[in-house]
Amino acid sequence: MCGIVGYIGARDSAPVVLGGLKRLEYRGYDSAGIAVLENGEIGLRRNVGKLENLERSVAESPLRGQIGIGHTRWATHGQPSERNAHPHISMDGQFVVVHNGIVENYLELRKELKAQGVVFKSETDTEVIVHLVEKLASAGHDLTEATRLACLRLKGAHAIVTLSATQPDRLVAVRIGNAGGVVLGIGRDEMFIASDIPAILEYTRRLVFLESRQMATVTRDGYSIQTLDKMPVDAPIHEISWDPVGAARGEYRHFMQKEIFEQGRSLTDTIRGRIDFDSGCVILPDLPLTPEEAKRLKRIVTVACGTSAYAGLVGKFMIERLARIPVEVDYGSEYRYRDPILDSDCAVLAITQSGETVDTLSAMEEARNKGAKVWSIVNAIGSQAMRLADGHISMQAGPEIGVASTKAFTSSIVDQYLLALHLGQLRGTLTLEESRTHTTDLAKLPDLVGKVLDRADEVQKLAKKLFQYSDFLYLGRGINYPIALEGALKLKEISYIHAEGYPAGEMKHGPIALIDEHMPVLAVAIKDSVYDKMISQIEQAKARRGVVIAVGTEGDEFIATKADHVLYVPELPPLLSPVLTVIPLQLLAYYIAVERGCDVDQPRNLAKSVTVE
Ligand code: AGP
Repeated sequence: MCGIVGYIGARDSAPVVLGGLKRLEYRGYDSAGIAVLENGEIGLRRNVGKLENLERSVAESPLRGQIGIGHTRWATHGQPSERNAHPHISMDGQFVVVHNGIVENYLELRKELKAQGVVFKSETDTEVIVHLVEKLASAGHDLTEATRLACLRLKGAHAIVTLSATQPDRLVAVRIGNAGGVVLGIGRDEMFIASDIPAILEYTRRLVFLESRQMATVTRDGYSIQTLDKMPVDAPIHEISWDPVGAARGEYRHFMQKEIFEQGRSLTDTIRGRIDFDSGCVILPDLPLTPEEAKRLKRIVTVACGTSAYAGLVGKFMIERLARIPVEVDYGSEYRYRDPILDSDCAVLAITQSGETVDTLSAMEEARNKGAKVWSIVNAIGSQAMRLADGHISMQAGPEIGVASTKAFTSSIVDQYLLALHLGQLRGTLTLEESRTHTTDLAKLPDLVGKVLDRADEVQKLAKKLFQYSDFLYLGRGINYPIALEGALKLKEISYIHAEGYPAGEMKHGPIALIDEHMPVLAVAIKDSVYDKMISQIEQAKARRGVVIAVGTEGDEFIATKADHVLYVPELPPLLSPVLTVIPLQLLAYYIAVERGCDVDQPRNLAKSVTVE
């Protein structure tokens, strides 16, 4: 949920930067900071808590200068504190950096820099960046090149802005992967940089968006963009409309598209502040639970509807595997009508994006009446499902506007992964060493999501071949069976095409009768323990002239000899794989709906929150 704002021009930069940060407050943060270049020196102010505290610091001890950068931080590595807040400053005080994302290899870089005499002032992963930039600059590189070379050392997805007293004519902004956007705002003899467009819309509607692995050198009279491999980029300028809805959609045609592409960032926000990466411990402050209570738990019942219920089915695998607690998943709409058996050793976990779905709320009420502990995983802050629960996990996915849920699905899966780790740690089913491995896997996720999104063009091309079919079958097994259900739901919701999701092993017990050349079959067949079984389902579908599209693991050439088309995702431990495998299916549904001219964001007959039974 971090926010970045930068300014270079003729105005006093501090009010522009602070005003921009204010407009990003809705994203949530726990500390904030600003750096301004003033008479050749960098002035820095940082405070814990609300922006008012930072504004007060700046009012008491003003910063005057025409280049500045600011940041609102939501802690990932290290507690919210003044010294952990951004911007981070180099040892010589000449360089500052603000950053969104997670430096996956920060421990290794920290060690290396410490060995070279660097003294770290914070516990953050970000601080390594500023020390790398300082070292590279002292080796003779200008700020742009030093920032570029430093970025080449980082693993993970990032949005970064650097500023240096040694080169007071510029700011350097970089985007790698999808840990958040970087947008440049073009003014008259002034330029703006932000992580989100609302921060700078007051000043300009002429915007340039950096793509992954692009960086911009921004001066007061313009900018130049290059890739991290030093290839010049001629990026298009977007004129953003003045209506608030159009402005919120930014460069995207639909909210659903924006929300699919935001997932690298929304997942970074979901993970943020929940893990101590050094120890592997999960921190869920709004879900109070003692080790004794966790050990007493006999069962978890997940209640949810639609996409959230499918997320619950994925979570079942995670909680059972990591915390060794049996999990049942039920539709909110069914649950209370079957006189469920519950007691105080059961926890009922409601998953809901809106927090207002009446069927899910009723199931929560039923659980409360029967004496179970009630938990929720909710996106809409302050909603009923958050208030009704004994403990909750906030998804932190940010507002989801498109009726078809996308980023809330992946965030709620990650939240359940965190819950599973937390329960496993409290119950002693996971060692800290194992936890550390799992949290390291999790930290890789936003970057890998970005890699899947980088292949969106391939999915779009495929959509052009498929959009006229009228029936689809989606197959998956194990933890990717719910992804088949979700892929089918996405397609039917927004394109009005009939689609069914099925556990692949069940195909031969009925749906196989449907397969012919008019029925595309989507098969999630990554390299996991059921890979061979999935290949055999693909062969059976092919033998009946089905058109097979597989979601496969990068590098798997064999599957390309079996399926008609393969949508590849990077390799990841199977427990987290659904977060990647669902993305090509979200994209496919989206592009097919666009090809068919459907109203993607407001599909017929559907509402974003279903508050009637
Ligand atoms: C998802 O694309 C749908 N719009 C729908 O299935 C939705 O997930 C369901 O209505 C539950 O909503 P909730 O998560 O807000 O409770």
